[in-house]
Amino acid sequence: MTTDPELLRERAASALLAARARTHLLTSCVEPPDLVAQHSPLMSPLVWDLAHIGNQEEQWLLRTVGGRDPLRPDIDSVYDAFEHPRAERPALPLLAPDEAHAYLTEVRGRVLDVLEHTPLHGGPLLDAGFAFGMIAQHEQQHDETMLITHQLRRGSPVLGEAEPPVADVDVLAAEVLVPGGPFIMGTSTEPWALDNERPAHRRLVPPFLIDTTPVSNGAYQRFIEAGGYRDPRWWTPDGWVQVQEHTLRAPLFWKRDGRQWLRRRFGVTEPVPPDEPVLHVSWYEADAYARWAGRRLPTEAEWEKAARYDPSTGRSTRYPWGDQDPAPGHANLGQRHLRPAPVGSYRDGASPLGVRQLIGDVWEWTASGFLPYPGFAAFPYREYSEVFFGDRYKVLRGGSFAVGPVACRGTFRNWDLPVRRQIFAGFRTARDAGPEVAG
Ligand code: AVJ
Ligand code: FE
Repeated sequence: MTTDPELLRERAASALLAARARTHLLTSCVEPPDLVAQHSPLMSPLVWDLAHIGNQEEQWLLRTVGGRDPLRPDIDSVYDAFEHPRAERPALPLLAPDEAHAYLTEVRGRVLDVLEHTPLHGGPLLDAGFAFGMIAQHEQQHDETMLITHQLRRGSPVLGEAEPPVADVDVLAAEVLVPGGPFIMGTSTEPWALDNERPAHRRLVPPFLIDTTPVSNGAYQRFIEAGGYRDPRWWTPDGWVQVQEHTLRAPLFWKRDGRQWLRRRFGVTEPVPPDEPVLHVSWYEADAYARWAGRRLPTEAEWEKAARYDPSTGRSTRYPWGDQDPAPGHANLGQRHLRPAPVGSYRDGASPLGVRQLIGDVWEWTASGFLPYPGFAAFPYREYSEVFFGDRYKVLRGGSFAVGPVACRGTFRNWDLPVRRQIFAGFRTARDAGPEVAG
């Protein structure tokens, strides 16, 4: 990234603006009662996310970075995610929808003034505009969260039909060999990388094979038809408990209609497209599918090596396609299309080894728990990553069609509980490659 302060200011301002445009769209397409309602106990009312976005921005950019007087210190506790679990949020004294919108506008006006007058160097929060990038990413993360709420909402569609991704699909080999050896995982140089992506460190990864694309609905249907949900052999003990307790039979939002499967997508019921990556499966389902297929989920390090390792230079790139920021031809990001692209799309987004769709389309479950890298330091607050470290949470990589480009890169780490199915998550599989035969 540049060090030119004007260019940095412009990047920060446009990242904040892009997030806000999405926030507005997601919160203006439904009537106020729909913003206040809780559409699922797993999610907050949309109006909580809305004001929480503004409150985080006020706390970090106005107060901490700008040194300005607090605007609404009285609402900090209502919008503290740790004080109130999602299920309890509808009962809180929330700002009304019009108050929340006005609050965000007020905060943003002042933040743009802070951005004008703050030097973008002189400390880790300021360097390269980190705090502004962090808050733009935070808003984009909640825009994805709000899109999940929209997906869970019952009733007629409100989002409008987004254009489908261009179906420009290649016929590809099923898997790609990633050679064994060390690679650089994580980053110490990406200016807006969050604490859990740091620092860069060497990882030894034995040779392995990884699916060229995410697992498709068609492939997943074969697992279903083969009785995958009825055979405990494929499931971990915890996963089998989930299957039985919740009578799981198919991904969330799927429904059988005679011989075919239908799915509900943002209020529309449609046939499941066999060529799209499977979506709305838990870690347990991904893991069971992989075992049934005689394979396994990739570890997080394997996923990142497949995405970033360039064998011609030995370097790790920022994205699979290289170091350039994401462009529309690289990946399906940013809620431009409200669905994943067919598997085999995005030739221009391929990794040097030819792996496709690592960024965008669907978050990909990995085999790994969410653990700190050697040398991790919580920054700027422990509640972003550190309090979640451990094996309870599984790491997801790559980002979905719903995540903004600013909140997605080759090093970006997401995590969730292995039971979760409402997130925009799918997976790809891997297997060990024996030691390479000397030539
Ligand atoms: C990184 C997506 C797990 O949504 O819980 C938002 C991001 N952290 N506000 C989440 C986040 C604080 C976080 N995830
Ligand atoms: Fe948040």
